[in-house]
Amino acid sequence: MNEIFTHRLEEWYARHGRQLPWRQTCDPYCIWLSEVILQQTQVAQGIDYYNRFISRFPDVQRLAAASEDEVMLLWQGLGYYSRARNLHAAAQQIAQVGVFPSDYDSIRLLKGVGDYTAAAIASIAFGLPYAVLDGNVYRVLSRYFGIQTPIDTPAGRKAFRLLADEMLDRRRPALYNQAIMDFGAMLCTPRQPHCQDCPLSESCQALAEGMVDRLPRKSRRPKVTDRYFTYLYICSSDGRLLIQRRGPGDIWQGLYQLPLIETPLPLRPQEVAARFPDCEVELLVGDITHQLTHQLLHAQCFAIRFPSYAETMPDGMWIPLQNLQDYAMPQLLVRIIRKISR
Ligand code: ADE
Repeated sequence: MNEIFTHRLEEWYARHGRQLPWRQTCDPYCIWLSEVILQQTQVAQGIDYYNRFISRFPDVQRLAAASEDEVMLLWQGLGYYSRARNLHAAAQQIAQVGVFPSDYDSIRLLKGVGDYTAAAIASIAFGLPYAVLDGNVYRVLSRYFGIQTPIDTPAGRKAFRLLADEMLDRRRPALYNQAIMDFGAMLCTPRQPHCQDCPLSESCQALAEGMVDRLPRKSRRPKVTDRYFTYLYICSSDGRLLIQRRGPGDIWQGLYQLPLIETPLPLRPQEVAARFPDCEVELLVGDITHQLTHQLLHAQCFAIRFPSYAETMPDGMWIPLQNLQDYAMPQLLVRIIRKISR
């Protein structure tokens, strides 16, 4: 532990730390849920998701008993849907045993729980001395100690792991971990950090050397793949819409979608029309993009009106248009459907 670093951080947290719904409790289920949500979104948006989950599933048994579709629907908009599936699977693991695991190693065995989440739950819910290492912690430590080692290398991860463990306040792990994360989220922010208000500024290495906005360092940019999606809006004469459920092996497993054609290059309107020779084809939404971590999606949507004698119809299920909200869909499609309905 480094007295100045730790105590100033904890003092700052006592004054400026955020009041959050999951900070009113030590219930490991609540802590776990909040941490999984906060890996996907900022606190401001995370609060709404957290409250919806807790009111629908007040305890782990109720989450375990839910259908996957319902969990997906509550998760809709957060992205990275395997996290929701893992959350659901882990709830079933816990419900089967009957109690929430209370030591680090058993927590770490839960589906979808990695080092970060296990440390967060062990420290915040059970007061165990495990240091969290998330993006906030990398940023705060790399700046304060002026560490240039890229964080996305084995050497970097090891060095920061050691340092994070060393800095942990072992007597108050819950307080310390939440303090350093809030500090990173509110003061030592990625861009335009508030160094003029920082209680650590006198001893911050990066500030002294003018390197604040160059830390933490990363070694490489993730490669981004472009993908081209053409969605088909197909309605029956009695007002039903054709949708499909996405299978495993790609993004958005288990979510619903409009029938989709994916091509290696953008599909032109005449090419769409050529695929449905007897149909009326109309562009509804063109050229909308959606950024995922390693993929840039380019999407468009066409209405396809099949004549009554048509035989070649994409597979799927016909649902009443007004029930569309009961099916969890990727945010990209929510945006497309919103544009269509306007
Ligand atoms: N980000 C993720 N988990 C957090 C927590 N427990 N406190 C503050 N920021 C966080």
